Amino acid sequence: MNDFVYRNGVLCCEELRVSDIAKKVGTPFYLYSRNTLVNHYRVVDQAFSALEHIICFSVKSNSNVAILRLLANEGAGADVVSGGELFRALKGGIDPRKIVFAGLGKTEIEIEHALGEGILLFNVESSQELMLINRVAERMGVEAPVALRVNPDINPKTHPYVATGLKQSKFGIPLKAAMAEYEVAQKLPGLNPIGVHMHIGSQILESGPFENGVNKLVKLAKSLKVLGMDIRYVNIGGGFGIQYTDEEALTPDQYASALVPLLEDVGATIIVEVGRMITGNSGILVTTVLYDKHGEEKRFVVVDAAMNDLIRPSLYQAKHHIAPVNQREGVRDVKVDVVGPICESSDFLARDFTMQEVKQGDLLAVFTAGAYGFSMSSNYNSRTRVPEILVWGRKAFVIRRRETYEDLVRGEAIPDGI
Ligand code: LLP
Repeated sequence: MNDFVYRNGVLCCEELRVSDIAKKVGTPFYLYSRNTLVNHYRVVDQAFSALEHIICFSVKSNSNVAILRLLANEGAGADVVSGGELFRALKGGIDPRKIVFAGLGKTEIEIEHALGEGILLFNVESSQELMLINRVAERMGVEAPVALRVNPDINPKTHPYVATGLKQSKFGIPLKAAMAEYEVAQKLPGLNPIGVHMHIGSQILESGPFENGVNKLVKLAKSLKVLGMDIRYVNIGGGFGIQYTDEEALTPDQYASALVPLLEDVGATIIVEVGRMITGNSGILVTTVLYDKHGEEKRFVVVDAAMNDLIRPSLYQAKHHIAPVNQREGVRDVKVDVVGPICESSDFLARDFTMQEVKQGDLLAVFTAGAYGFSMSSNYNSRTRVPEILVWGRKAFVIRRRETYEDLVRGEAIPDGI
């Protein structure tokens, strides 16, 4: 179910050759397959079909409005973490009644914005945030639907930067303290506690940590119901791992078959907040080889994409498969570092990576770049952000144009007299 395939040694995205698109738009660029995106959404949705559920797509993984529109058309909801993401989700056409708002630093303005739009619920991360939501809701004469994000203290066995459900983590309310917070919430006139939430981390490759967390969450939901709270939503978060290189990832069905039985008798709609599982393998980053550079100890393939375009290797030592867009016959494999032009030693897309020997001008594809790729990109080194292209069958659409130098200075000003 991947629409990035080699046909006679030529990488295609659906019905188009990647090299033809590169000729038109130049490199680097992100390239998404509409079919892969939509199929991934459908498979995840189908996996949880035994339960009343909503798939709230995690907007931070890929927030392009065209991607959001495609998912909205499929009936997806959204997990947002800022006023900006809420704006994007609504612009993409996602139904506000399927939008959940997480994040531990929501501002008063963001809370007011979300209440005004009538979102499904807030995933609340602290007692002070609960108080603020209550005040804003009272002022607006509404009741804010809330879930508490609990921290179940579970080791997700993933990169420490993307583990979020451990005791030491800044996220969530300790499970022990949750009951008392819910009781406070129940009494406050501006709050309506209707859900429970956890998100234990990202790129988790086993179902065990989820099972542990879900068991704790279900127990909490049941206890809250006994206290008379109308807990209608159990949000199990996102974080399902996917295959980047040689890791073994579970399928959505495998995760679901481990979790569905644990959720069957909780009597609530289940929310699943996946991002990467839907977008990760729906996109690649296409880049050109600028130089083949032989250092004293290492060989470097210098490409025109850099850490500002895809920061995952630099930030998390993440591994992405990289391969030539057009394969050549009889070429030997060499060990290289694939590096970008940025003035930082941490600017690499792969290290000690064995790939076909490439030449100046060759196109390379960095795979599994659809999640946390463009959405984490920046203008560091005053590099313009790259275009995003969406392929649907035989057609390619520019869903975000390449930035210009003028874009770089937009909003900046030189004060008079300096
Ligand atoms: N729900 C919440 C509350 C989250 O914080 C996240 C991700 C998700 C859902 C979706 O997680 P996913 O299914 O996409 O793994 N930049 C990192 C990942 C950071 C994830 C942050 N939170 C990366 O590139 O691996």
